Amino acid sequence: MNSFETRDNIEELERQYKYIDLLKNIVSHISEEKNRPLTACVETFGCQMNARDSEKISGILLSVGFVLTEDENSDLTIYNTCSVRDNANQKVYGRLGRLSTFKKNNPDMKIALCGCMTQEQEVIDKLCQSYGFVDLIFGTHNLYRFAEFLYYVYVGFENIEDSEQIYRKGKTIVSHWDSTDKICEKLPVDRKYPYKSGVNIMFGCNNFCTYCIVPYVRGRERSREADEIIAEIEKLVKDGVIEVMLLGQNVNSYGKNLENPISFAELLKRIEKIEGLERIRFMTSHPKDLSDELIETIKNSNKICHHIHLPLQSGSSKILKSMNRVYDKEKYLELALKIRREIPDISITTDIIVGFPGETKEDVDDTLDVIKQVEFDNAFTFIYSVRTGTPAAKMEQLDEDFVKEQFDRVLNLVQETARKRVSLIEGQVLPALVEEVNKQNESLLTGRLSNNTIVHFKGSEDLIGKIVNVKCQECKGFYYIGEVVD
Ligand code: 5AD
Ligand code: SF4
Repeated sequence: MNSFETRDNIEELERQYKYIDLLKNIVSHISEEKNRPLTACVETFGCQMNARDSEKISGILLSVGFVLTEDENSDLTIYNTCSVRDNANQKVYGRLGRLSTFKKNNPDMKIALCGCMTQEQEVIDKLCQSYGFVDLIFGTHNLYRFAEFLYYVYVGFENIEDSEQIYRKGKTIVSHWDSTDKICEKLPVDRKYPYKSGVNIMFGCNNFCTYCIVPYVRGRERSREADEIIAEIEKLVKDGVIEVMLLGQNVNSYGKNLENPISFAELLKRIEKIEGLERIRFMTSHPKDLSDELIETIKNSNKICHHIHLPLQSGSSKILKSMNRVYDKEKYLELALKIRREIPDISITTDIIVGFPGETKEDVDDTLDVIKQVEFDNAFTFIYSVRTGTPAAKMEQLDEDFVKEQFDRVLNLVQETARKRVSLIEGQVLPALVEEVNKQNESLLTGRLSNNTIVHFKGSEDLIGKIVNVKCQECKGFYYIGEVVD
């Protein structure tokens, strides 16, 4: 089945809107009883996909009458979890303890967990066994049924018929699906920013990098129809959005499995034509699928931002093979240097994993060599984290002290090259999208350049959501202090 927003899904959407109506009544009834609005807090862990999913959860909460708060001591607190590395999992378990204290003081409080962690059976088992105060557990494939699940939480368990997909364990309602081919994108969304928005263009991943849990928790790759994406962006633009971030685990393989296949570059060309849209970003690009057509499209566009996130993971061909990345050191270098040649002002950022099983000092030397040659504008450096169920978890693991030493070598070089790259634009006047008042220094605004560099400058709050020309005056390492110029 390749066409996703099908009749089936329209029926499903109608079903979910029915639950939204039912919930509205319930929430308004409880609010009347309590003589105050019900509050809900959505806490997001992890990546941009999760951030977008949280906007969908918040959209439903707002539409049924909750007031959103950042205070976790609320009437309904939801953790949207990440499981890409173990420390993300541990953080959630640690913070659940605090929620149980809140619930003791407010027994009507509801607690829900969703996201990548809760796609894993062993996590569900652990939660049900040791965290019985959690009211609802659901995953990523069934997020669009959130209104329905919440309805069950409020009407009581006796009204649900247990099934393989929704069941009760103790007092917890669990909805666990291994996979879905459904895409339901027309439910309410609460966008964090009025002028920019994420847009899912595809879901899941087929790459099975041997360290990575994502294909297991986000399912197989499925692209949305281009027409649906365009319609969504047109609506966003009507609502005031000027920048979109196209989201997918591997945007470069977008559209390959649609009934009428279309390349990512072709999709970009269609999106570019949308009047009123000023900036287009995308992430993430897998190096194995990045085409010349895409480089050409970015080069010829005045809307596609000059930033590409191109995860390297390792510079060693031996480790890349063992990671199942399907490119080697030479291919990566050839690609990155070609992008640099074709679009000299583009920033290239990356992800690097240190401490993958079998990695030697010489392998890390190869990673350092790629960093030196490409000069990444920024890099996220991670220590390899064992994920149960992935092939690399069964490989022999490295000594922790050795890994820390290697990690420091990589981090030091990455910071050095990033500083050098960022400093290259000192003195230039460049367009920046004004995003918000600077959180650290409220007398400054924060803007983002096309190449993703942050610049802080003085200006009136009316500028938020607009693109202004900023002189990048003083490089502060990874960001700039600047000045608006007319
Ligand atoms: N350990 C450490 N880092 C990981 N990533 C994915 N899986 C793991 C893991 N098991 C990193 C990769 C990926 C980024 C989102 O997270 O670098 O690109
Ligand atoms: Fe994980 Fe690899 Fe897919 Fe990225 S491409 S989500 S690292 S499996």
